[in-house]
Amino acid sequence: MQERKPDVIDDLWYKNTIIYNCDVRTYLDSNGDGIGDFRGLKRRLDYLSGLGIGALWLMPFYASPDRDDGYDITDYYAVDPKYGTLGDFVEFTNAAKQRGIRVIADLVVNHTSDQHPWFKEARSSKDSVYRDWYVWSKKRPKDWNKGMVFPGVQKSTWTRDPQSGEWYFHRFYDFQPDLNTANPAVQAEIRRIIGFWLQLGVSGFRMDAVPFVIGAKGANVQPHEQYDMLRDLRAFLSWRSEDAILLAEANVKPATNFQYFGEAGERMQMMFNFQVNQHLFYALAAADAPALAAAMESTKARPQSAQWGLFLRNNDELDLGRLTKDQQAKVFAEFGPDKHMQLYDRGIRRRLPPMLKGDQRRLRLAISLLFTLPGTPVLRYGDELGMGDDLSLTERMAIRTPMQWSKEPHAGFSKATGKLAVPVIDEGPYGFQHINAADQRRDPESLLNWTERIIRMRKECPEIGWGDFRILPTGNQAVLAVRYEWRNNAVIIVSNLAGEPAEVTLRVPENCLTNLLSYDHSEGKSHKISMEPYGYHWYRAGGLDYLLNRREY
Ligand code: NOJ
Ligand code: CA
Repeated sequence: MQERKPDVIDDLWYKNTIIYNCDVRTYLDSNGDGIGDFRGLKRRLDYLSGLGIGALWLMPFYASPDRDDGYDITDYYAVDPKYGTLGDFVEFTNAAKQRGIRVIADLVVNHTSDQHPWFKEARSSKDSVYRDWYVWSKKRPKDWNKGMVFPGVQKSTWTRDPQSGEWYFHRFYDFQPDLNTANPAVQAEIRRIIGFWLQLGVSGFRMDAVPFVIGAKGANVQPHEQYDMLRDLRAFLSWRSEDAILLAEANVKPATNFQYFGEAGERMQMMFNFQVNQHLFYALAAADAPALAAAMESTKARPQSAQWGLFLRNNDELDLGRLTKDQQAKVFAEFGPDKHMQLYDRGIRRRLPPMLKGDQRRLRLAISLLFTLPGTPVLRYGDELGMGDDLSLTERMAIRTPMQWSKEPHAGFSKATGKLAVPVIDEGPYGFQHINAADQRRDPESLLNWTERIIRMRKECPEIGWGDFRILPTGNQAVLAVRYEWRNNAVIIVSNLAGEPAEVTLRVPENCLTNLLSYDHSEGKSHKISMEPYGYHWYRAGGLDYLLNRREY
């Protein structure tokens, strides 16, 4: 394996942590109004601490009319009153800090709500100081119906504003006018927003739609990205809070990864790995380990301080846009065959367990991969329980139902007597009567307890978070073997993507292989390994003393 420079800073917290993604609105309702809130979320910090997570990424909680589930903001400096007050927010971030949990906020600055006072001002007069905060065209641009992010639902990217008679640009829905991010006043405001929330205790931001934030905007502009904006934001962030991070939502081609991270890691510390995400689903559908390995290799190079955010499912549809047509067809056929399971001509709006037809072995394999592919895992709330989806809800709301805590009414999420803003899943195999945290925490074999053990083991494998990887030959198309090395320690992860058993032989120079998840330990340089259908084995290369006492760490 290629020698890696020693890490100058070896306490970058985001390298070996577990991130948990949840929405305050669907986590726990403390006052019975049917909507989750910060007091409720605070009460569940012990649950999250017990699970072993290190950081919480919260979906937008700012003032919003909620036409895009909070991604349409009317005030960046306010918690929406339905979730509590700024006071509740600070109590929550403080309580998280006491438990060693960091909070990452969603930074949604590509666009505002059309109800934001800035946009109202901007459209009220062409002389308004806010006019140039948005993107206008006197005439309808030629490409008015191109570049939609939500095809099939969204009809255009330019809409006529009846008040001023001009057209405004919106990459997303028409109620989300794009901010003119090239405007220095807008850039100053973005910095102010970052500074504000850092002051209130967050450890960084998941930055929404980064390629669009930095893309050139306007009618007839030559498309190009203004990458320098990322360096400036990062410089500001790191000055205000030295260990805060930016985690980019940027579904881009691997060739541009370094532009986002910065050649020397001076831009975004983290990016979600969409390339690996999509190929992972293809690999699971087709039992094709080389396809996943190729995606891992294509995103291997990164600055030393940078890190990938790994995920299975998130708050959006599973976007398959980077796969070939044949690969897409395979994933759709296997995991989302019906039209109503699909979205925007490119994705699947389902949660993981129903996609895998409830097969527990395959589910645990998928989660094992989430925790052992190169990067920092980002777990979606409810995935630790195996929660399902509600396809009767619109678009991506299908996968945003309330957390299922217990068998009590509304799944223990709310004491509301009437209907909830977002209904809980209360029928079928994924109903809260069958899938809930209270039952699972008492069952030693439950997915919840298994996930907790896996998280614990993952945190004890800094080789994965910090080290470099190499794909090991297995001679079997369905079996992926990955070796990670860091500071003279090595772990080897073997995953069988197929529903049939497999036998593979692995060679290790260390003369010994110790299974980290079971009593299986063997001497020698060559090891015959029997893999169960959808099996996953985590090994450390070395003897039993390597289980806890690793060299030089
Ligand atoms: C990405 C978010 O994840 C998605 O839910 C949202 O609709 C768009 N950005 C627009 O903000
Ligand atoms: Ca509430």
